Amino acid sequence: MKKIVLLILALFCLKGVPALADEGMWVPALIQSRIKDMKAKGFKLTAEDIYSINRSSLKDAVLLFGSGCTGEVISDEGLFLTNHHCGYYFIGSHSSVEHDYLTNGFWAMNRSEELPNPGLTVSFLIRMEDVTDRALKGVGDEMPQAERDSMVKANAADVIAKATAGTHYEAAVEPFYYGNQYFLFVYEKFRDVRLVAAPPSAIGKFGGDTDNWMWPRHTGDFSMFRIYADKNNNPADYSKDNVPYRPRRSFTISTAGLKEGDFTMVYGNPGRTMQYVVSDAIDYAVNRGNPAKIKMRTMRLEIMNAEQAKDPATRIAYAAKNARVSNQWKKWQGESKGLARLGTLDKKRAFEAQFTAWAADKPLYRDVLPKLRALYAELAPYAFARDYYQEAYQAIEMTQFAQNAAKGIFKPDAEKAGDGFFKNYSQTIDRLSTQAVLGEYVKNVPAEWTPAYFLEAVQKAGGVDRYVDELFEQSNFSTIEKYKALASADSATKAAALQNDPALLLAEAFNTFYNTKVDGTYKRLNTEINTLYRLYMKGLMEMQPDRTFFPDANLTLRVAYGTVEGYSPVDAVYYEPFSTIDGIMEKDNPDIYDYNIPQRLRDLYRTKEYGRWNVDGSVPVCFLATNHTTGGNSGSPVLNGRGQLVGINFDRTWESTMSDYEFDVVKCRNIIVDIRYVLFVIDRIGNAGYLLDEMRFAK
Ligand code: ARG
Ligand code: ASP
Repeated sequence: MKKIVLLILALFCLKGVPALADEGMWVPALIQSRIKDMKAKGFKLTAEDIYSINRSSLKDAVLLFGSGCTGEVISDEGLFLTNHHCGYYFIGSHSSVEHDYLTNGFWAMNRSEELPNPGLTVSFLIRMEDVTDRALKGVGDEMPQAERDSMVKANAADVIAKATAGTHYEAAVEPFYYGNQYFLFVYEKFRDVRLVAAPPSAIGKFGGDTDNWMWPRHTGDFSMFRIYADKNNNPADYSKDNVPYRPRRSFTISTAGLKEGDFTMVYGNPGRTMQYVVSDAIDYAVNRGNPAKIKMRTMRLEIMNAEQAKDPATRIAYAAKNARVSNQWKKWQGESKGLARLGTLDKKRAFEAQFTAWAADKPLYRDVLPKLRALYAELAPYAFARDYYQEAYQAIEMTQFAQNAAKGIFKPDAEKAGDGFFKNYSQTIDRLSTQAVLGEYVKNVPAEWTPAYFLEAVQKAGGVDRYVDELFEQSNFSTIEKYKALASADSATKAAALQNDPALLLAEAFNTFYNTKVDGTYKRLNTEINTLYRLYMKGLMEMQPDRTFFPDANLTLRVAYGTVEGYSPVDAVYYEPFSTIDGIMEKDNPDIYDYNIPQRLRDLYRTKEYGRWNVDGSVPVCFLATNHTTGGNSGSPVLNGRGQLVGINFDRTWESTMSDYEFDVVKCRNIIVDIRYVLFVIDRIGNAGYLLDEMRFAK
């Protein structure tokens, strides 16, 4: 292993920056260029097997779940898998005290028990196509950006119209490499998607936020849905007459398992990466944005955790909120640490010095970096104000509720509008958090970036804490009783209350300030920055003709490939790439919420009734691979060299969290739940083994 690393490092020094080992999120339609490398790693199929417009290919079994996860079809009757954390919202929406599917799991025992999910869609990619020439038709090099943008927009609309004419397809034209290239994506979107199965959270979310972004991991992070279509197999709104969708393709499942070094491929929809940004962007993230955001979230989490520990009802009410706050909070910390460890900032600066030297005699590129630098300097205060607006002001639950409730306050059913909100609300948490985050705001954001109303109100009250106490005392939106009283009052009372409510006044002050003073300029500067990135990117490709570039993730379908591999997180420690049910039992602890497993799992472990899922007296649970993934890859199929499903992607390790900026071939690993654990849970925990009958298993 060491030798390989040295070799790679040597290559790195010699050749500038080649696309390293398993770095890269490749475009399926262009995968031919990677096939040789993939084959060398153990891939046994062809480019046409991955992506084809002439016959069914693996791409036809991959779907975009909602607007941010991936799923994979595993039967010819529209059954598909994604992560538990991707299905979480929908599982929760069917849950109540009587039917707590989040806690107990959900298993449809026949088709009629499958639960519809209004609003949930899944999309399949029909085809993609390089439309750069058409998108840039009439666009000149010297054209001002605004003119270019509207030209590209009009061209794209034309491309989309032609691509979808006479079909029920939807399409989008997406920029790649900051608009140096454009691709058309044609999708088929299904609207009747039903919940089939979800494990208990103690399995689907096992390890909770304690284990999140970490290895060793033992999470059964999956849920199962089914797509329904009309009688002609076309997308349709929910109807009881709809029938299971017959997909173009579904994955064959392999239960043979993988060994360290075996090929793996992730086929999914990575959301966003920033591989090519300049040092100034890293500098902002590491030295300003991340620390500020982390600090505010630390304060909020401490408050939430303390209150949640005091009272089980609060623990449940804030479970999802806590997870949401905690997920990015933890990621940013790993990211900052990883960027520091890799020295990304210094490496980028050194590289930019090379670029500057190279560009010195090239008028097209000469000014790109200085201009970018100036724009980033101009952007910084706006970005900072925006970070605080989002992390501080928007973290206040009551003001968000007040704004929504105010909109419907004159409606006849206004009284009920608070029920959902207050069901999962702790005023104590909200008040303490508000004091914490607004305190940070006042301390760190210059007065010129602070709404005057807010500053004056704080002054008048004699400090942030007193102001916040008064805010919660005086607002009509801070308790369910006060809210119901207002909602049932006469119109004149309501109107007067809306005029003077301090929560609404605060919301108004922040939103107006943000919309007039921050957002517009923030967006304009970013547009200018992206324009320069288009040039910078073009320059990079010219300067490094031998380097293989892959486009940043943009929630379009990509292929990442690599191998099953352990790694060394720190000196003297090596992580094996496989975890098993024995590790679940090592963590099991009824007193620790994140590690309290269902009794059924304990019993199975004691009696070793693993059935056909027994592997050497245990059950495989999760494994690691070197695939380059990011948010949005959650739920992605993980395939072996024959294109068979061996697991579901759901996370990255702690040492990988900076990979959206820089991928580290030595330490970056994605985390996968082994398909055999998924099947074991369906079969032995859910007693829903009948679902396996419609799946196809490799011989
Ligand atoms: N870290 C994973 C991802 O970014 C999983 C998050 C869900 N789990 C949690 N404990 N918050 O989405
Ligand atoms: N957990 C992430 C997701 O939900 C995946 C990742 O960031 O690695 O998409």
